[in-house]
Amino acid sequence: LAVPDLIAKKRDGGAHTHAELEALVLGFTRGEVPDYQLSAWLMAVFLRGMTPQETADLTLVMAASGEQLDLGALPDTVDKHSTGGVGDKTSLVLTPMLAALGLTVAKMSGRGLAHTGGTIDKLESIPGWTPELPEDRFLAQARDIGLALVGQSKDLAPADGKLYALRDVTATVPCLPLIASSIMSKKLASGARTIVLDVKVGAGAFMTTPEAGRELAQAMVDIGTRAGRRVRAVLTEMDTPLGHLAGNSLEVQEALATLRGAGPSDLTDLCVALAVEALVAHGEDAGQAEARARQTLHDGSALAKFRAFVAAQGGDPSYVDDPERLDVAPGRAEMLAAQSGFVTRVDALSVGRAVLALGGGRERKGEAIDHGVGVELLKKPGEAVGAGEAVLRLYHRGGRGLERAQALLRAGLETGPQAPAAAPLILGHIG
Ligand code: URA
Repeated sequence: LAVPDLIAKKRDGGAHTHAELEALVLGFTRGEVPDYQLSAWLMAVFLRGMTPQETADLTLVMAASGEQLDLGALPDTVDKHSTGGVGDKTSLVLTPMLAALGLTVAKMSGRGLAHTGGTIDKLESIPGWTPELPEDRFLAQARDIGLALVGQSKDLAPADGKLYALRDVTATVPCLPLIASSIMSKKLASGARTIVLDVKVGAGAFMTTPEAGRELAQAMVDIGTRAGRRVRAVLTEMDTPLGHLAGNSLEVQEALATLRGAGPSDLTDLCVALAVEALVAHGEDAGQAEARARQTLHDGSALAKFRAFVAAQGGDPSYVDDPERLDVAPGRAEMLAAQSGFVTRVDALSVGRAVLALGGGRERKGEAIDHGVGVELLKKPGEAVGAGEAVLRLYHRGGRGLERAQALLRAGLETGPQAPAAAPLILGHIG
C-alpha cells in the first residue's frame, strides 16, 4: 500500500500489519515519508487507537530502527523512565542513587514533550553537558561510573527521536500506543535487563485517570516482559507538580538539593520508592533496600556519582558544587492568595503550560528553549496561606509569555477554607 492508503487504513479504524508499520515508520526515519504524512497518520492513530498486537509491533519496529545495545558485559543494568510529568526531575536524582547503590544505569532519555519537561533539556542547563556519546564511550562510562545518559540519536531508536519531536508539536502525545511504543522502544534498544517505569496519573500527566494509567503500565510491562526484561511499574500521582520547582535550571537546582539530602519530601520519597523497586528486582529485601537508598542522599554518594557523570559528559562540575550559578531568569512575579485559608489546588497542567508560555519548552520542532524560566510553588496544596501571601513565583524574562503564564496559573490555583485530604504519592504497582 502507498502511504496515503496506509493513512486511510488507520483513519478508517483498520489494524496495521508489522510490514505496514515498518514501511511507515522506517520510511519516515529515513526521511522518505514527509512530516505531513506522518503527522496525519499520528492523528489517525490518536483518534483510532491500536490493538495490543499493533502496539507491540510498533515498539519492535521502533526499537530496531537503529542499533540495539548489548549491555550483557555490564553488571546489574537498570533503566528508569517516567511517562511524563511537571516538575518531574526524578531521573536526575534517582539515576545517581542507583549508581551509588552499585547498579549500572545506561539510559536513553527524552526532551520536553508537550507540557511536560524532559531530562535531556534539564541536564542541558548545565554548561557543557552533552547528551551525545558514541556507543563505546556510553558503555565505558556506564562501566566506570555506573551512570551514562544519552538522548534519542541517529544510533539508538532513531524512529522515536523523530516521532517524538513530531508528536510534541502536533497534539498527538497523550495516546497509549504512542507513549508505550515510544518509551519501550528506547528501553529495549538501550539494553538494560531491569526496567522501572514511573507511570504518572493526574491532571498534569498524559493519563489522567488511574484506570488509564494502569492500562498503559500493563501494556508496557507486557511488551518488556515478552522481550525478556524484568519490568516493574509504579503508578504515581501527578495532579500537583512534583517538588517545588518546574523549569529546567530550577529543576536541576532542586535535584541537587535532593542529592544533598535537603530535597522536598515528595520528590525524595518517590526517588527512594523507585530505587527500592530496582533493588527488589535484583533480589534485595524491601526494608533494607529503603534504608540503603535513603542513605545515598545523606552520605554524599549519590551526589558524587552525579558530579562524576556530569563531568564525564562534558559538563562543568563547578555548577554541581554551586547550583546557584546556573542561569535563572532574573524577572520575578508572584501570584498571591486572595483570601486566607488553605491552598487546595495547584494544577500541574497549568504550571506545565505556564513554563511553556514563558519559553521553557517548544511550540515548534527543534526550537531553542529558555532554560532559566520557570515556576516555584511557594505553597503546595494542604498548606495554610494568609490573604495577600504569595503562593507561586514566576521566573521570567518579561514579554507576552509572562501574561499568558500568569493567566494559566491564575486558572490553576485555588484556595479554600479547609485543607484538602492529603493525596497519596503512590497509587499502585504493576509487574
Ligand atoms: N516519555 C516518552 O519517552 N515518550 C512518550 O511518549 C511519553 C513520555
